[in-house]
Amino acid sequence: MNKETLKKMIIIGAIIIAIILVIFLTIFIMRKINHKDEPPKINMTKYSEKAIKVMKEENLYEKLKNKEYSKTIEVVLEDKLFNEKYLNEYHKINYHNINNFSETINSFLTKHYTGEEINYILKNLNEYINILLNMDHINILEYKDISNFNINKLERYINYQKENTKYDTKTVVTYVNIGLDLKGYSSYNTYTTDEAENNLSILVNKYHKLPDNYEPSDLTELSYKNGNYKYLLRKEAAEAFEKLTSAALLDNVIFYPFSAYRSFETQNILYSRYKNRDGEEKADTYSARPGFSEHQLGLAVDVRSNTLGDNLTNEHYKWMLENSYKYGFIVRYPKGKQHVTQFMEEPWHIRYIGVDLATKVHNSGLTYDEYYDLHISN
Ligand code: DAL
Ligand code: ZN
Repeated sequence: MNKETLKKMIIIGAIIIAIILVIFLTIFIMRKINHKDEPPKINMTKYSEKAIKVMKEENLYEKLKNKEYSKTIEVVLEDKLFNEKYLNEYHKINYHNINNFSETINSFLTKHYTGEEINYILKNLNEYINILLNMDHINILEYKDISNFNINKLERYINYQKENTKYDTKTVVTYVNIGLDLKGYSSYNTYTTDEAENNLSILVNKYHKLPDNYEPSDLTELSYKNGNYKYLLRKEAAEAFEKLTSAALLDNVIFYPFSAYRSFETQNILYSRYKNRDGEEKADTYSARPGFSEHQLGLAVDVRSNTLGDNLTNEHYKWMLENSYKYGFIVRYPKGKQHVTQFMEEPWHIRYIGVDLATKVHNSGLTYDEYYDLHISN
């Protein structure tokens, strides 16, 4: 091979290498360019251009590109309120079409609410977002399955729970709904005469008052009289009481009434007498203030054993607890429930509410105050 030929071959070789290099370089540059404009990966295609732009501006693209699409993240990005710290929680939050969605969820996240809690709030407690945001974090999901939970009482539940750590959340809700976080008589509603007259299941306690002048329209004498003294109950209750005493008699249990309907005035005289004798605090444990007694309803009767002046023997009390519901009566102030009924145990005081309801209350094992809140009010 002569020198000339060698030279030619070197030049050809160099050209070939140069061409190959140019080709590689072109491919490399093209790929680079392509990569830049490359359409987003499958899971990114759903994001709006605006969201992707923000992602890139904030260097979030790499972090988000392999994650699933999230409408919540898209909106937060578009609003320029994305906070990387909450990435995982954003993914759990379902988007809700509300004003200031991004600000709202960020505020909840700042208060340490989880994605799950935020979903529950947005779905069920939309109207109460501001109330919740004005409070410290609470375990809102604890209230989720409590049927009588009332968000308007949330602060009262929280305060009552703090003072009564022995109660679970369910108990706290019922007790606060009854009113037990407030002192008896400090806050109460007053029924209308129509409500008192037309509803045999009406709840009367230290938080629910009867009109002063309310007198039932159908007061009926009981067959048992004490000399000339007649005992009165509303007609349906009077008839049921006769059935109860007859049934008891078949079991050799003899009951007599010793107090039945009492007017507002009579209750006033009684309560005043007790208050003068024992002081207000003590009197309030066993006598209702005027307007707050079931006796004014004509649906309550105090019953004694034939051998006692104003009480039941243990055996007769047992009969009452086990059987009175069959005739529509419940023992209204049972043993061990003073903290709920706000009255000391009164074995003798029974209240007519009708057979169906009395059966349910009996089976529930609850006081009427609790049962009423859980199953009757609302
Ligand atoms: N002793 C009951 C509570 C009443 O006075 O009605
Ligand atoms: Zn009574």
